[in-house]
Amino acid sequence: MGWKDVHRWLGLTAGTLAVVLGLGGAILAFDPVQQSWQATAAPSDLSAATLVERVTRSIPAAQEIRRLPSGAIVVFSFVGDQAQATYVDPADGRVLGPWQPSALPRWVKNLHRSLLLGDAGRWGAAGIALGVGLLSVSGLVLLLRRMGGWRRLAARVRGSLAQRVHVVVGRVVLAVLTLTSLTALTMSASTLGLVALDAGAEPEVLSVATGQAALPVAQLAMLQSLPVQDVRRLNFPADADPEDTWKVITVQGEGWIDRYAGRTLAWRDSTPAQRIYDWALVLHTGEGAWPWAVVLGLVGACVLVFWLSGVVMWWQARQQAPHITGNSPLAQADVLIFVASEGGSTWGFAQTLQDALRQGGHRVHTAALENFETTATTRQVFVLAATYGDGQAPAHASHALAHIAKLSPGAVPVTVLGFGDRQFPAFCAFAVALEQTLRAQGWPTLLPLERIHQQSSQQFARWGQTLAQALGEPLVLDHVPRVPLTTALTLVSRQDFAGPRESNLQAPQAPQAPPAAAILRFSWPAQGPGARLRGLGLARFAAGDLVGIVAPGSAVPRYYSLASGWEDGFLEICARQMPGGLCSTHLLGLQPGDRIAAFIRANPGFALPRTRRPVVLVGAGTGVAPLAGFIRRNDRHIPMHLYFGGRDPARDFYFGPEIQRWIGEGRLETVHTAFSRVPDGGGYVQDALRNDAARLRGLVAQGAILRVCGSRAMAHGVTEALDALLAPLHLTVQQLKAKERYAEDIF
Ligand SMILES: Cc1cc2nc3c(=O)[nH]c(=O)nc-3n(C[C@H](O)[C@H](O)[C@H](O)COP(=O)(O)OP(=O)(O)OC[C@H]3O[C@@H](n4cnc5c(N)ncnc54)[C@H](O)[C@@H]3O)c2cc1C
Ligand SMILES: Cc1cc2nc3c(=O)[nH]c(=O)nc-3n(C[C@H](O)[C@H](O)[C@H](O)COP(=O)(O)O)c2cc1C
Repeated sequence: MGWKDVHRWLGLTAGTLAVVLGLGGAILAFDPVQQSWQATAAPSDLSAATLVERVTRSIPAAQEIRRLPSGAIVVFSFVGDQAQATYVDPADGRVLGPWQPSALPRWVKNLHRSLLLGDAGRWGAAGIALGVGLLSVSGLVLLLRRMGGWRRLAARVRGSLAQRVHVVVGRVVLAVLTLTSLTALTMSASTLGLVALDAGAEPEVLSVATGQAALPVAQLAMLQSLPVQDVRRLNFPADADPEDTWKVITVQGEGWIDRYAGRTLAWRDSTPAQRIYDWALVLHTGEGAWPWAVVLGLVGACVLVFWLSGVVMWWQARQQAPHITGNSPLAQADVLIFVASEGGSTWGFAQTLQDALRQGGHRVHTAALENFETTATTRQVFVLAATYGDGQAPAHASHALAHIAKLSPGAVPVTVLGFGDRQFPAFCAFAVALEQTLRAQGWPTLLPLERIHQQSSQQFARWGQTLAQALGEPLVLDHVPRVPLTTALTLVSRQDFAGPRESNLQAPQAPQAPPAAAILRFSWPAQGPGARLRGLGLARFAAGDLVGIVAPGSAVPRYYSLASGWEDGFLEICARQMPGGLCSTHLLGLQPGDRIAAFIRANPGFALPRTRRPVVLVGAGTGVAPLAGFIRRNDRHIPMHLYFGGRDPARDFYFGPEIQRWIGEGRLETVHTAFSRVPDGGGYVQDALRNDAARLRGLVAQGAILRVCGSRAMAHGVTEALDALLAPLHLTVQQLKAKERYAEDIF
């Protein structure tokens, strides 16, 4: 069971009851605020002795003085048989009026403390407090994972509305919620009798009658030196009992005073348990600290928001979770299939494999890779793993490799099948890493690693034939790919760019010359929250994310870097014609009004963090698209520096006029260009970097963030150039990548 499961199940159980406690706590928090506003507090230099003198002048029958956490002074006395409690002004002893206990109904307190269930309820409330503590800790772990560590904790949150609310509220209230559950547990320990707060029975002390009258209070040394601020309770000696003593309870402890000699008969310090309890009480209730009570009240109310957004997230995840049909329970299965997938297509391949194996009489259990394990009944294991980012695992399986590396190897063969795309430099790198780890651990295998390119059904079927031979069983893997859920986007406008001179000797505007690239701007249909809940609509996107486009006649999407964000109100890409390419030909043939089928894939590793540091953007060809998107949204005027590489400024200077405008608007500080196919064009973009070495070194020394986008060859050249020019700073691109200051989007 991972942190996510712990968090989910606690949220649905303890979390539901915590909403009741949270709302009760929010109501109770009014009390300390109201009490503090009403209280007439004692001056800071007032001594307990002076207070007693003033009180006895106006209430001669006073028997006890209490100082409430709000600072108000309440005097208890008897008039005949009638007990009275009165507010007194400590400045002059004046009676202010009768003491009124909290105006809040008693049941609210009982609900908060024991769910209205008496002693059993107190145990229940303590259990919920423990649950909330565990929810906070597991929530913090998940938050850190999601945001990518402590340093990115304040970064922008992406995802559905429920996810954003849950994370944003969580960032604000998690610490207070953890503290609240800890203090609740501390207080419960004493209420439930698990910890004793006092040091046992009171000492046997008596005032020794000397025949003289009791000393006036002004002569009691302990009360003279005791500030009223420290007093909790002061009991007067009873008139009817000549041996009775003064008793005082303070923040530090409790003492007994001889009423005739004024001597301190006994003193005992508060126990450590009492001191901890006192702190817990203030921190949990806000009594005597009204600004803190306001914070606690707001956090109590936030529990409802937290729970609602959490339940919506759980529901969304359930709706979107892959549904594997015919899954046998783990303990009964002889074949296990573990899956690592971001976009979901690998789950489809797993289903096909599962169906085929079940037809052959196997009992098959399919699960996510982070649950990797084997049981006594397991005979074969298959791992189907996609690769993401810069050769990394899909998000849900980010800890799977470390988990597998910790397991002691079994005797069951584990066969890895990688899913990836050869366009990415790290082709199936996660599957390769899994294969290496499993072999190094000593797990046997039925077949060596196979890597499937672009979700090819044919390649999968061929692997199925090899598998059938190895198993010695008939097995046919006939996979019909599922088309991803898409949204229809309508082309609003296009800006065409002609091909290079060598291939096109006509004028660029000539009608026969087909465009070599185009900036395409799309609009998306209006969506209600219902559409997003069902996972149908476009997710919120930012420049640097990817749009997956499914061309007619293909189930395999092609990805394009986004040059705009959701807030821009349009979706823009810069697409280049690939000779004979299916999707690029489709895109370049679109006319305004035409529609495409698309979906969003987040690319969080490439997103710009919210920063004030300088940003260095390096792009070549259509690779400038996401960089243009970053600049367009640079409303805070962070110093951005663009290095652009193309072939010919007359043909492929994408976003050229916009770049000039953005400089004028202060969104871009400098631009350096290099064009490789014109005389004195400056060569490649890496040459532009070398020519500007001193300034670049300065920017990196100031902590600049770098983003590089374009072809693999260009990214390689840029790395070489930067490594050389950063050598005097003893920095490498690899180190900057490790610090998340350098990221590439390569295609
Ligand atoms: C993360 C990422 C971001 C990207 N961003 C952008 C972007 O911003 N702009 C952009 O223009 N592109 C971008 N791409 C590339 C884009 O996704 C497509 O790969 C590209 O448009 C080509 O797709 P296609 O369908 O046109 O070509 P495909 O049909 O996939 O063909 C690709 C190439 O292979 C050749 N080919 C196809 N089939 C065969 C065959 N059987 N035998 C031999 N050769 C064959 C084609 O002639 C073509 O040249 C990005 C890619 C990735 C992975
Ligand atoms: C943003 C992004 C990054 C990717 N990175 C890689 C990569 O580094 N190496 C690779 O081989 N494939 C990469 N791919 C391709 C996917 O691994 C491949 O499409 C896979 O079949 C997707 O499986 P899934 O739908 O189950 O997630 C990437 C795809 C996307 C969208």
